[in-house]
Amino acid sequence: MHKALCPGSFDPPTLGHLDVIERTAQLFDEVVVAVVANPEKASAFDLEQRTQMLEALTTHLPHVKVGSFSGLLVDYALEQGASCIVKGLRAVSDFDYEIQQAQMNQQLADVDTMFMAARPAYSFLSSSLIKQVASLGGSVTGQVPALVEEALRARFSGRSSHGC
Ligand code: PNS
Repeated sequence: MHKALCPGSFDPPTLGHLDVIERTAQLFDEVVVAVVANPEKASAFDLEQRTQMLEALTTHLPHVKVGSFSGLLVDYALEQGASCIVKGLRAVSDFDYEIQQAQMNQQLADVDTMFMAARPAYSFLSSSLIKQVASLGGSVTGQVPALVEEALRARFSGRSSHGC
């Protein structure tokens, strides 16, 4: 039985995240979407909101579960019995950071990481950019799932809007 972890901050989940989760689910018997409890940057959505959004977005994938962790990712991987971490790579600029983390995780606990190339249509997407655009009243349609778009609208309602 091969189990993978798809970890991240998911603040908020984008269509790019969902695409990587769906494609990972085609390759592994079980997938745990691992939501970090304390992202390095202050989050727009709390852990419960991020977890609930991901649960709602993965109901069509019966062998995908959503969990959360704090502390080391490798400890959570071992606790879950996951043999592999899967991360999306959008561009070369992702690589430096991701390879460092992958090698550290390998060194720490012999947990391997596989990189999945982002679908080109989603290769420019990031949660940070999505939050910036949404907070300034721009449209993120087609970049995040509808329920995330709604959550962003609620989160940033009352902020300035210039409709770009
Ligand atoms: O969505 P992100 O921000 O790319 O996710 C990063 C995440 C959560 C996977 C990474 O920050 C992480 O693994 N955090 C847990 C802390 C940890 O294990 N650090 C050592 C590995 S380098």
